[in-house]
Amino acid sequence: MNIDKIKGDERLPKHMGIIIDGNGRWAKSRGLPRSAGHKVGADNLKKQIEFLFDLGVKNLSLYCFSSENWKRPEQEVDYLMQLFDEMLDEYKRDYLDRDVKIIISGDLTDERLPLNVRTKAVDLIETTKNRTGNILNLCINYGGRQEILKAVNELVKLGEEVDENTFEKHLYTYGMLPLDFIIRTSGEKRSSNFLPWQATYSEWEFPKKCWPAFTKRDMIKAIKSFMSRNRRFGGLNKNETKKHN
Ligand code: IPE
Ligand code: IPE
Ligand code: MG
Repeated sequence: MNIDKIKGDERLPKHMGIIIDGNGRWAKSRGLPRSAGHKVGADNLKKQIEFLFDLGVKNLSLYCFSSENWKRPEQEVDYLMQLFDEMLDEYKRDYLDRDVKIIISGDLTDERLPLNVRTKAVDLIETTKNRTGNILNLCINYGGRQEILKAVNELVKLGEEVDENTFEKHLYTYGMLPLDFIIRTSGEKRSSNFLPWQATYSEWEFPKKCWPAFTKRDMIKAIKSFMSRNRRFGGLNKNETKKHN
């Protein structure tokens, strides 16, 4: 794996989304409890974030807990909340002296979230808000439809006419680069309410491996696929725009 070849390449995704999926299945296939999959998944996430920022991906959006994940058994939800609590402490420590702004997409006013998680999340956002380097967007208690409705309700209160730019100011991701690439592990091919507004022109990749088993090599392979694609945004290729035939 020659990472140096693509490090800093201008064709790298600028804002990458990851739908972390398959933690439970990974654990089950090894005779382990689902929580073990979430733990190994969280450890892998830390490594992959480092790797991607180091590679030159500027912004990351990570789907950690959806607004629909409350439907899971209480024990699993409790375990995930405990994991987020620990993750927020670790990220605060790890990113203390780094130029990384951390934002959280999702409803942090929701009282189903443990108070510790809400307080630590707000603290982390506050501590890193003036940083101008990488952006790490943790999607926790996030739902795309809910995000759009949040924006609509805020705009209705303002009572002004809306265009795409003013609308985007009311999304959690305001200030991030356009979401150009999304990976969903575990072979599932759906978006599950992940960043619907932002993903309209994203490229997608659906590797089969479950997230805890997803390696840096797998990541490079997915990114290389993105880099080889031809993105047209409804237009034509550069060499086709010159003449009409
Ligand atoms: C992703 O893994 C983590 C979360 C959604 C929180 P899953 O827990 O969805 O794992 P599978 O899909 O059941 O294997
Ligand atoms: C999507 O995964 C949510 C996160 C990755 C946090 P799910 O495992 O919850 O999605 P579905 O239920 O398979 O659509
Ligand atoms: Mg899943």
